[in-house]
Amino acid sequence: MDAALYLDRKRARLEKALDNYLSGEDSPLFEAMRYAVLGGGKRFRPLLLLAGGEQFGADEELLLPYACAVEFIHNYSLIHDDLPLMDDDDFRRGQPSCHKKFGQALALLAGDGLLTLAFEILAAAPAPKNDHLVKTRVAAEIAAAAGPRGMVAGQWLDINFGPDNHDPVAYKEMASRKTAGLIRVSATSGARLAGAPEAALQSLDSYGLYLGLAFQLRDDLQDLAQDRSSGKAFRPNLARILGLPAALELLETWLGQAARSLAGADLDSDLLTFFITQLQPARFEEKS
Ligand code: IPE
Ligand code: IPE
Ligand code: MG
Ligand code: MG
Repeated sequence: MDAALYLDRKRARLEKALDNYLSGEDSPLFEAMRYAVLGGGKRFRPLLLLAGGEQFGADEELLLPYACAVEFIHNYSLIHDDLPLMDDDDFRRGQPSCHKKFGQALALLAGDGLLTLAFEILAAAPAPKNDHLVKTRVAAEIAAAAGPRGMVAGQWLDINFGPDNHDPVAYKEMASRKTAGLIRVSATSGARLAGAPEAALQSLDSYGLYLGLAFQLRDDLQDLAQDRSSGKAFRPNLARILGLPAALELLETWLGQAARSLAGADLDSDLLTFFITQLQPARFEEKS
């Protein structure tokens, strides 16, 4: 089946599952959580997790809770990232950001709620073939990617990335924690749950890392194309550090490395390759 069509179908199931996890509770807190999660979003990470699992024949029912947990963690990070004491962004996905709509206290708690809910879901998720060691390993890897050695550390590096810091190596370290970590673990988790061999998991890990770095660089390229008077014009941005031609070249290099990681392990299916295609600069230039 065509990869885009397949992922559209998966996206619809995912939206329903996300909605279900946030249903049945009528309170301002759940309203804020629903607002933050269900108002769009590309679902790049959970779809990647589903695709990795699909590649090795796992059932959708097994994978969906893990995919939702990853998406909830991502959405918590966005709510907190937009708060005035972080990036101070009034808009997210073209809508008022969560704190603009519900106030800072409720937005902070909605983020806390989504992060905690993610681990409640992981704890209750099915184990593949009743193998609880695999399940625990996947949950631990997701926690590590999100936690104080992963995304949280990346956010702290980002906050402290001074306007005069033009060091691409420091930037790569920050982006690999802030953004690539969760994408990387999304690329491996579905496959690990499906029982993929260790060599394949290593290749998927490398694919996820380069995909994640490319993802942040592409986001930076998009920010660069935005209104120069917006707050984003002064944030750390690798595309600005390198300049447009070099940034586009690096994006191609990282996407090439992601593709090679797949090809080296015979994993270059249309489905997994599709995620690389989505980040290609031609598509970026079309849209901006
Ligand atoms: C935005 O992530 C934040 C970054 C890590 C660059 P996404 O671009 O995945 O945001 P949504 O979920 O699709 O809105
Ligand atoms: C978003 O990062 C939050 C995380 C990746 C944890 P950014 O601040 O770079 O992304 P946008 O531009 O707000 O979406
Ligand atoms: Mg930020
Ligand atoms: Mg931000």
